[in-house]
Amino acid sequence: MSFIVAIDGPAAAGKGTVSKAVAAHFGFAHLDTGLLYRVVGRAALAKIGPSLDPERVIALSTEVSADDLDRNDLRTAAVAQAASKVAAIPEVRENLVTFQRDFAQRAGGAVLDGRDIGTVICPDADVKLFVTASAERRAERRFKELEQRGEDTSYDTVLADVIARDKRDSERDVAPLIAAADAILLDTSDLSIDEAVAQAIAAIHAKR
Ligand code: DC
Repeated sequence: MSFIVAIDGPAAAGKGTVSKAVAAHFGFAHLDTGLLYRVVGRAALAKIGPSLDPERVIALSTEVSADDLDRNDLRTAAVAQAASKVAAIPEVRENLVTFQRDFAQRAGGAVLDGRDIGTVICPDADVKLFVTASAERRAERRFKELEQRGEDTSYDTVLADVIARDKRDSERDVAPLIAAADAILLDTSDLSIDEAVAQAIAAIHAKR
């Protein structure tokens, strides 16, 4: 029987960490749906260039496969911005729906994290969490992550990127970033990783 956990929220709020820990705790499969948009964004930058011509981006979005998600060049700041741009194209989103819904039906349960899981992809998910944190806290975390990976950037640049991405993701016409009415809010601004994970696990236990 499937059991679906939908985890949505803005960039660098801690969704990925919480999702991985929840999946490990309950033995669920985990899909980071942002990677799907990153795959399309990376391919678009490489094959089309900064214009991101929508017709060609849509064509690329039909070619995404599970293997692409393992690429090691998807986590750069440039790819994140491109992902956010291609994600605003309705046909790109449509082309990625089946992959996500099929994944959600995995026997043994699944955690999907992204922006529209609880609202569009799996509106009937068993548990919905909306993980958020202040833009400053999220920028701090992302800055440390990029620094550790050797990217040459500054806190101010990362904060500006986070705010630009939030704005684009929240204001787009299709499947904007928004908490589902029945989502449980988890603000991680002042929580340690362990505290955030413990709260998420407790919320899921309560629904099982
Ligand atoms: O979660 P992430 O930072 O890897 O996501 C990259 C971009 O992909 C994000 O800025 C918006 C888009 N995205 C989306 O529109 N819908 C999702 N379910 C996941 C990500």
